[in-house]
Amino acid sequence: MAVDNVLIERLQALLGETGLIRDPQRMAPYLCDWRKAYRGRAALVLRPASTGEAAAAVRLCHEAGVPLVPQGGNTGLCGGSIPDDSGEQVVLSLSRMNRIRALDVQNDTVTVEAGVILAQLQAAAAEAGRLFPLSLGAEGSCTVGGNLATNAGGTAVLRYGNMRELTLGLEVVLPDGQVWNGLRGLRKDNTGYDLKQLFIGAEGTLGVITAAVLKLYPAIRSRATAWTALPSAEAAVALIGALRARCGDRLTGFELMSRQSLEFVLRHLPGCSDPFAEPHPWYVLIELSDPSAEAALGEWLEASLGEGFESGLVRDAVIATSEAQVAALWALREGISEAQNHEGPSLKHDITVPISLIPEFIASTGARLEQALPGVRIVCYGHVGDGNLHYNLSKPPGMEDAAFKSRQPQLTTLVFDATSAMHGSISAEHGLGQAKRDAVRHYKDPVEQALMRALKHTLDPRGLMNPGKVL
Ligand code: FAD
Ligand code: MLT
Ligand code: ZN
Repeated sequence: MAVDNVLIERLQALLGETGLIRDPQRMAPYLCDWRKAYRGRAALVLRPASTGEAAAAVRLCHEAGVPLVPQGGNTGLCGGSIPDDSGEQVVLSLSRMNRIRALDVQNDTVTVEAGVILAQLQAAAAEAGRLFPLSLGAEGSCTVGGNLATNAGGTAVLRYGNMRELTLGLEVVLPDGQVWNGLRGLRKDNTGYDLKQLFIGAEGTLGVITAAVLKLYPAIRSRATAWTALPSAEAAVALIGALRARCGDRLTGFELMSRQSLEFVLRHLPGCSDPFAEPHPWYVLIELSDPSAEAALGEWLEASLGEGFESGLVRDAVIATSEAQVAALWALREGISEAQNHEGPSLKHDITVPISLIPEFIASTGARLEQALPGVRIVCYGHVGDGNLHYNLSKPPGMEDAAFKSRQPQLTTLVFDATSAMHGSISAEHGLGQAKRDAVRHYKDPVEQALMRALKHTLDPRGLMNPGKVL
């Protein structure tokens, strides 16, 4: 059903001037994603300031049969937060719901609203002498609601898990406007189905997350960071095993990058420089961390890298000696997404395979892609400890954007078939959104898909919550 004047008047009365946007220019930033890969149209953008306002707005839209698209920081990479081009959907932005409601140091929990920016949550935890460990390149703009809705991962999953593992409770506005208050800060609760898990990773298709109780951890007081050059992806898999054997959970980050990824960063991001004089095929950014200020992390890192040199796993290494150097090394890693944007349209593949199969995946898929499109530039990087590779493709030099885009179905099928043959997942951390909604039908077990549709129908029988995404 279309948005009519009666609905607009009711929403206006509920949300006031700041809570409702109709002006096309002011709506524009809500209708295009970070990568500018997805654009849509909307009848309205709603910006409730409280759970009560969000629930009442959802109820009014439900009664009018108007579809809603929940939106956080709009940094998602699959078009999940962007409306379709009908102009009949309404964007529900959580950006004004940005309060930290409570922080309980003894319970090691923080209760936050969905629109809190991840970096603000990290800072609030640090101020209280604690750590909120989710960490990703978009942390200055992405929101807790978006992190929950996509079950975000990032660079510290190896040690702390992804968003699902960091969550104890949720508050959700259901598609008909009812509020489920599941804001429990309990580490044990076996009173039936764990409903919060339904909404985490659902990409806004089952309800609007308005707040959450999240876990806190001891603050980090020592850190050791190294940038290493490796001969192969096999060496990376062997090295992570050796580091875990020596350092256990103190291994917090282990980020792989191909030479091609680093070259894009060096070419496009000002102020970045190659830590080594010679090029190498692969790099790994390693981080150890510990709550104790006395932990001998530097020694452990040196010992592990020394062994790596002797066994041929490591070709070169630099251990950061200042906070500025740590930041410079992370900038090389975190800058890859942005740098690749400068090379024209990119085909993003965000896959997982068992860690042991990473080298075989890279070798065999790379060979098949080169055969399919000679010169295609593979920007491969990612979170080795999670088996998660960002296996992105840029066009061969000189190829027209349109010609490259026309090859997307073939190239993506090739990558997804290779992933599926290794019993992997075609979406490791970014979700399905619009980007992989159709492909997933081919790769996911039909029984699992039927269960997903049944759940969707039970919670959202009218199909008004983020339609056209995921399913
Ligand atoms: P949005 O983009 O606004 O929305 C994402 C999805 O969540 C949409 O389907 C939307 O409808 C839904 N949604 C948003 N808020 C709510 C809510 N309150 N209730 C219900 N549904 C909601 N992701 C990773 O996992 N790991 C990474 O390492 C990583 N690195 C990134 C680096 C860069 C440079 C960029 C641009 C992105 C990266 N991402 C990464 C992707 C993105 O940042 C995450 O998916 C993030 O969790 C999205 O948060 P957001 O607030 O921007 O959500
Ligand atoms: C990352 O790990 O940098 C992001 O998840 C990857 C991306 O932007 O593709
Ligand atoms: Zn990632």
